Amino acid sequence: MYAKLTDKEFETFREFIKKISGIHMKPEKKILIESRLAKRLRYYNLSNYSAYFDILMKDDVEQQMFIDIITTNETSFFREHHHFEFLRDHVLANARDNVRIWSAACSIGAEAYSAAFVCDEALSARHLRYEIVCSDINTEVIKTAQIGLYPEKFISQIPQKYLKKYCLKGKGKYEGHFIIDDKIKQNLLFRRLNLLEPLPSDMGQFDLIFLRNMLIYFDASEKRKIVENVSSKLKKDGYLLIGHSETLFNITNCVKQLKPTIYTK
Ligand SMILES: C[S@@+](CC[C@H](N)C(=O)[O-])C[C@H]1O[C@@H](n2cnc3c(N)ncnc32)[C@H](O)[C@@H]1O
Repeated sequence: MYAKLTDKEFETFREFIKKISGIHMKPEKKILIESRLAKRLRYYNLSNYSAYFDILMKDDVEQQMFIDIITTNETSFFREHHHFEFLRDHVLANARDNVRIWSAACSIGAEAYSAAFVCDEALSARHLRYEIVCSDINTEVIKTAQIGLYPEKFISQIPQKYLKKYCLKGKGKYEGHFIIDDKIKQNLLFRRLNLLEPLPSDMGQFDLIFLRNMLIYFDASEKRKIVENVSSKLKKDGYLLIGHSETLFNITNCVKQLKPTIYTK
């Protein structure tokens, strides 16, 4: 017999999620939270969600695991293709120096590697370098991004020319997977960051920041905090890209809109 998450327990988890990640968990997400946390109850052999909450309160490692479980990490390679065309035609075509990009809620790295393929193709012949910082609040997805090993189901999202040039077919125990070439991976840096917290002073400034499909999980005041925090790392003429279902209208004026989903300082 499975435990049921009561309304009161759900409220307690919602408040805690908001406190540690800023994420506004909508009431209709109760079933989702119940099913995602069920495996932790089984792991600890617990009969109810309050007992799990007591463990959570006392254990920092469990708190990170909790964040890893509750965050939604859906992503794909070349998601919103026009952003990668914008990167190629506006940022890389005009680059006179090395280029720095930040994938600020990178999930498993598909966004960052898509950008890396485009950068490598555009910049290597011109002897310019690029660096892509990848960060997320979820440590599990960062580990996956760092390894750069993906199931073949992602292959159809990647243009053939990049697959041939930058992806290697998995063999033996990696059968059914492909791996990103080291010559691409060496341009990526990985770190765990909560975008609601003060950002490290050693991050430097960026020519382009991807902040896509992450703001949807936050309410207006948190959205403002995140965008202002992240935009503080944008170079004067840099670009901030958000997801197609997101807008900064009535949220903040710290960046101005160039076209839908594309902002600059
Ligand atoms: C739906 S994914 C988007 C991935 C990618 N940017 C894209 O558009 O395909 C949202 C990511 O935001 C991360 N996230 C949620 N809250 C966060 C926070 N407070 N700080 C940093 N990352 C966060 C999640 O862990 C998740 O990987």
